[in-house]
Amino acid sequence: MGFYMNFDEIMSIADYKVRLSRIYEYFNEKKRLNHSKAARIEFLTNVRYIEIYLKPGAKILDIGAGCGEYSLYFAGNGYDVTAIELAERNYETLKSSVMPGYDLKVFNANALDLSMLKDASFDIVLVMGPLYHLAAEEDQLKCIKEARRVCKKDGKLFFAFISNDMVMMTEFANDNDYLMGDTYEHDTFKVKDFPFVFMTVDGMRGILQKAGLHSLHEVASDGLSELMVDNINQLSEEGYARYIDYHMYACEKPELLGYSNHILIVCDNA
Ligand SMILES: C[S@@+](CC[C@H](N)C(=O)[O-])C[C@H]1O[C@@H](n2cnc3c(N)ncnc32)[C@H](O)[C@@H]1O
Repeated sequence: MGFYMNFDEIMSIADYKVRLSRIYEYFNEKKRLNHSKAARIEFLTNVRYIEIYLKPGAKILDIGAGCGEYSLYFAGNGYDVTAIELAERNYETLKSSVMPGYDLKVFNANALDLSMLKDASFDIVLVMGPLYHLAAEEDQLKCIKEARRVCKKDGKLFFAFISNDMVMMTEFANDNDYLMGDTYEHDTFKVKDFPFVFMTVDGMRGILQKAGLHSLHEVASDGLSELMVDNINQLSEEGYARYIDYHMYACEKPELLGYSNHILIVCDNA
């Protein structure tokens, strides 16, 4: 199924939280990262980069946590985790998945207002969801500013984006007539993305620079896995391990960056 399902009703909803909640009644976020070998690549890659900076006793904040794939993983590994999620269904699913003994606090809140959290209180801050939906530059900057405020000065921030140029290709793979249609601007190749936000790599870099951040890593989190889905899912365990080795070798190559559906940019809060 391509991106262009029937969003007419959703697009008419002005309230951000109500709209977001309706979007995630359509999209099954619980299964997104774990329903197949290909789908798992994004999670495995992001975890690998987070673990580079994760120290024993670290406090993690997961903003736009979805159904908690990352929050539950890190809480299950003994970390102190706080999750923020605005869409009703995802929030309820995450809250009901918290296991006894987990140090995991879950808030139904907006990334634009984290006033319940103290300044400089987290070592690792994940922003892997809000920038898929906040369309106005003013809101994107506000979200990044809030994430920076609650992150310690030597902490690390992980921002995820969706790549406009890869969406072009995955839509084309799903629909051979896609390039003849009108769901993108034919002169700029900007995909009509509402109620999501698709950005070019330059756009992602630009907003982080505007927020005063410097990147440590720019990562093609899922790389070509959506285009290669059938190949990847048919791999043996050994073949899959080799594919992951290749993907990890290639995922920071600047020449491949735009050809990944999800891009992770890791920044220092210094
Ligand atoms: C595609 S999911 C990603 C979930 C998870 N972080 C991951 O990487 O798998 C995007 C999530 O961000 C949440 N989100 C979007 N805008 C938000 C905001 N302003 N405040 C809090 N959560 C938000 C959505 O509700 C959704 O659950």
